[in-house]
Amino acid sequence: MAGFHPFLAKRLRPKGGIDHRRVMIEKARAISDVISLGRGDPDLKTPAHIIEAAKRALDEGYTGYSPWPGYPELREAIARKLREENGIDATAQEVLVTVGAEEAVFLTMMALLDPGDEILVPEPRYTPYDMAVEIAGGAVVSVPTTLEDGFQIDPRGVEERITPRSKALLLITPNNPTGQILDRDRVAALAELAVRHDLVIISDELYEKIVFDGAINFSIGAIPGIKERTITINGFSKTYCMTGWRVGYLHAPAQIVDAMIPLKYTLTINCPSMCQRAALAALEGPQECVEEFRRIYDQRRRLVTAVLAKMGLKHGPARGAFYVFAHVAPMGMTSFDFCQRLLEEEKVLVFPGTAFGSQGEGFIRISLLAPLDKIEEAMARMERFVNSRLG
Ligand SMILES: Cc1ncc(COP(=O)(O)O)c(C=O)c1O
Repeated sequence: MAGFHPFLAKRLRPKGGIDHRRVMIEKARAISDVISLGRGDPDLKTPAHIIEAAKRALDEGYTGYSPWPGYPELREAIARKLREENGIDATAQEVLVTVGAEEAVFLTMMALLDPGDEILVPEPRYTPYDMAVEIAGGAVVSVPTTLEDGFQIDPRGVEERITPRSKALLLITPNNPTGQILDRDRVAALAELAVRHDLVIISDELYEKIVFDGAINFSIGAIPGIKERTITINGFSKTYCMTGWRVGYLHAPAQIVDAMIPLKYTLTINCPSMCQRAALAALEGPQECVEEFRRIYDQRRRLVTAVLAKMGLKHGPARGAFYVFAHVAPMGMTSFDFCQRLLEEEKVLVFPGTAFGSQGEGFIRISLLAPLDKIEEAMARMERFVNSRLG
């Protein structure tokens, strides 16, 4: 919709420029029989024991407000998970249960940034962070990562961009959209740099369980002396196929968590009570489902990367998260054009790399969130589209 309502505050007025992700979703909606490899929303269902826990919670009367920062037993279970799996020496008081990781992102920016403060953000990046930074009055400082360097963050690239206003460094690992997992030595170098320049680290580890080829995601908060300057963001959406349940969390120094609570109250009061009970069941129940999801994504990932190789197109590392970031620059059109034409001609929806910042030009993000036969069909259509252009 063009223009904006005159009542609208400046902060929500359109900034100019096109939201490529939104345009693609709207275009796809108007076309029938599209195969969507667009959004990051799993086609797989939430495991039955988690659904059962939510039903039980409703019967047991978990229908009112919970304590604002979350049920104590869930905060405790999350703290235990962070200690045992991530090596972060966490306590329940340092955990805040949020409405998806997305609320944790917003709270984090509002808690950390004063107007004019800068946050260093590796790019391509998950751009919904930008609005939270903007509303907090901060400024995103992009640190480019490249296909040639496997989309690893170069600590020198970060250091070169540090100014007296630098407040925080954002890490997203495994990464959406590039599929990279930060190597342990890079994590150590970035931690050292953060200490030297007194930066806060925001570590978004939402895709920590979606890792391939034996890769392990390493939590920066596990490094001695680092959790004191780190906010770790995580949640249940991706690991347990629970995007619609809206349960996330953050781990931060207890004083920061305490200070966030009134803002959290103003935003949402609490994460839905029955969903918190489901999240508790997810953490305390059997974990085979997580392994099974990973096996399914891996099969799809192998198919997509094999077809890209056949087409002669390079792609990002695809070591983690459920996306393949493919390099379509050799096609001689912009990423946005590629996606629009692929949708119009072959009814396949993928997102242009530019939905993840200008550094994403030349790339498309293919999500692995459709059944294998659909992905096979979508990739066959993409191959036909590419071959018809490359000849
Ligand atoms: C890197 C990253 N962080 C945070 C989120 C928000 O996830 P949710 O609010 O569903 O937990 C997403 C969703 O795609 C994401 O990719």
